[in-house]
Amino acid sequence: MPKHYLGIDVGTTAVKALVVDEDGVVVGEAESPLGVSVPGPGWAEQDPRDWWAGTVNAVPAACAQAGMCEVEAIGLSGQMHSSVLLDKADKVLRPSILWNDVRTTAQCESIVDTVGKAGLRRMVGNPALEGFTAPKLLWMRDKEPGLFEQARTLLLPKDFMRLVMTGEKATEPSDAAGTLLFDVRRGRWSEEMVAALRLDPSILPPVRGSAGVTGTLTAGAAEALGLRKGIPVVGGGADNAAAAVGSGVVGQGALQASIGTSGTMLAPIEQPRVDPGMRLHLFNHAVADRWYQMGVVLSAGAALAWFRRAMSEPKGPPPSYDELIAEAESVPPGADGLTFLPYLTGERTPHADSNARGVFAGMHAGHQRGHLVRAVLEGVAFALRDSLELMRRLNVDADETVAVGGGARNAVWRQMLADVFGMPVVTVAPSGGAPYGAAVLAAVGSGEFAAVEEACRAWLRPLDRMEPSPVAMSAYGEAYERYRRLYPRLKRHFAEQTEGSE
Ligand code: XUL
Repeated sequence: MPKHYLGIDVGTTAVKALVVDEDGVVVGEAESPLGVSVPGPGWAEQDPRDWWAGTVNAVPAACAQAGMCEVEAIGLSGQMHSSVLLDKADKVLRPSILWNDVRTTAQCESIVDTVGKAGLRRMVGNPALEGFTAPKLLWMRDKEPGLFEQARTLLLPKDFMRLVMTGEKATEPSDAAGTLLFDVRRGRWSEEMVAALRLDPSILPPVRGSAGVTGTLTAGAAEALGLRKGIPVVGGGADNAAAAVGSGVVGQGALQASIGTSGTMLAPIEQPRVDPGMRLHLFNHAVADRWYQMGVVLSAGAALAWFRRAMSEPKGPPPSYDELIAEAESVPPGADGLTFLPYLTGERTPHADSNARGVFAGMHAGHQRGHLVRAVLEGVAFALRDSLELMRRLNVDADETVAVGGGARNAVWRQMLADVFGMPVVTVAPSGGAPYGAAVLAAVGSGEFAAVEEACRAWLRPLDRMEPSPVAMSAYGEAYERYRRLYPRLKRHFAEQTEGSE
């Protein structure tokens, strides 16, 4: 009987479960959709219990597809930064405030006032951004003091799943890194930052290895998932780190472009180097003693999903993605002068501006829907290129990009990335993304492989390669300049609009 490994990813739009055999082949795959509630402008929340309900749906479905439910080990991955606060009985105190929620601008300002930019750089290696976890804690302390007082444990989404599945509270460096409470360079909680923000250090879970076993499946969880009791659960990784593991982007010189709900450019590095302007994030990789620099586009796949919803007939079905992409494909690069800024929920890299909003600029009467779709796809590619340009300035030197995530499954979008970045864009098989990376970590943790690199070499193979076209590169060169000039001209307008709506 071949061995199998299970990867579970708690995403923003779905919980995904994936069963991988000992040769790295995906033999079962299922997902259970998740909703996001928006209780206020710029807010985004989920009930952590929905993540467990989604897991209970997705895991048995993936096992059924695999025709088995016997796995050696389980790996977890999940959306980063989103807060889960538990009381002394480990009861969830309030819905999770998600990574793309931008309600915490005042708290970010107060963090900068308290420790200064230099303090942030030194203690945690990252700027205070609305999406990160620490500002969410301060928001709760400011706005919901009664609830906050009851908080005894802070967990991240995948770590909450770990608690439900094993009864153990633990995190690992790649997710801890996104809290703004973690000293990424030293790989431990920053006592200095925790003290400066007057937080109780006892709410922070222990930090274990990403490929280390953190506990085993309890009888109750095993029954709910249709699995055997006692299966080891490894640390796992933040979704971006796990996706990078799952596509072999683990060593310096590699580069990953991801288009999921958010979009990210991620470059592993061997020494923790903070971007002097702190526009790129510096986080710990899910591989020991490895870090990565990352730029984040808050609405990437989410921008196309928004556009599709916006194009729906009031009661009819939305147009299919295939239909929209086919229309975009018939429009030449540059979208006939139309530019789209994908900042629907503010932006992180390079602008770090929660006031920024989406924009179509340069519309004329001859534009059709295909131009709009093309501009959306191009806008996301340009936003990713902004991060790539910052990386290039820090001497990140890659000669190709590995594309991952739902959006990158689309060949038109991948070709666009190649043309906009001016470098080949490759995919690897299996293209399982974050849950696949979680399964890799499970296989390493259970001793199947000695190291993540070894697992990647054994399980992954190149799938396809898109070369940049010189003609398209030059058309995009101009369109990118147009794109880049737009935000600085609108920055004040965005700020005034936010002030006006307060
Ligand atoms: C990364 C980030 C997003 C989420 C998506 O900093 O906020 O990419 O991890 O789940």
